[in-house]
Amino acid sequence: MTEGTAPSGNLVQTAGELSAIVRLVRRDGKRIGFVPTMGALHDGHLSLVRASLDECDYTVVSIYINPSQFGAGEDLQQYPRTLDADREAVQACGADLVFAPSSEEVYPPGYATWVEVGSVAEPLEGECRPGHFRGVATVVLKLLNMVAPDVAYFGQKDYQQALVVRRMVEDLNVPVAIRVCPIVREPDGLAMSSRNRYLSPQAREQAAVLWQSLCLAGRLVEQGQRDAEAIAEQVRRLILSAGPARIDYVALADPETLRPVARVEGTTVLALAVRIEGTRLIDNCLLHPPDAS
Ligand code: PAF
Repeated sequence: MTEGTAPSGNLVQTAGELSAIVRLVRRDGKRIGFVPTMGALHDGHLSLVRASLDECDYTVVSIYINPSQFGAGEDLQQYPRTLDADREAVQACGADLVFAPSSEEVYPPGYATWVEVGSVAEPLEGECRPGHFRGVATVVLKLLNMVAPDVAYFGQKDYQQALVVRRMVEDLNVPVAIRVCPIVREPDGLAMSSRNRYLSPQAREQAAVLWQSLCLAGRLVEQGQRDAEAIAEQVRRLILSAGPARIDYVALADPETLRPVARVEGTTVLALAVRIEGTRLIDNCLLHPPDAS
């Protein structure tokens, strides 16, 4: 790195190198945007990079498969590792820096501090994946401290994760603005996810039912159905009619607190987690009753 210029198109792997660059970028008065990822990048991730490019002067993308957010028996070992392709995609998009730390860098020997977010982290994913949000909140806080961005970008597909991050940032006075960007979908409606690549062609076809079930719920609400359990029941039926699947949850909840609702009287989040052929997929949408204030 030459004195006085912040490099572009680079890969850095240590927090030390990163902060040296960030210092230069800041000194130039640039606004830093940050997109945290676990790699295996798809258009959903790249939409976050583009949002950062639109709003910020310097975009950092992290690629780190965070072991502490995977439970025992989950897909940590299997999770796709595609650093070279990811770097190319990020650079082609126009991002400035890829931060890809090792686990020794993120969790050095003796590491002992964890972030626990309260009630919003408890239901849904929190219940199905104990310890997941403790791992997410911890690594996101560490990454935010390392990158020190002005703005950080998250996808709405991980609806609960975005709420957990917002809560943490507010509660711990982290000086960053959090943006949550819309879900990017395949032509048949399946939400883009790094895990979609686990699906066999048949399971991939079946997985479109998740989006169809969200659309069904939207139509039911438009037609006047307000009973949350009745909507959830129809969603479950449609999912199971498409082929073998295990439903972890179909939940209608308050969009801010994630407390379950009995009736869809105001904007409500419909969140679901379904295993198809052992691959766990999540998706969600907001339901807006036409007569809600
Ligand atoms: O959404 C993800 O990919 C991860 O949970 C994140 C935010 C990069 C933390 O590891």
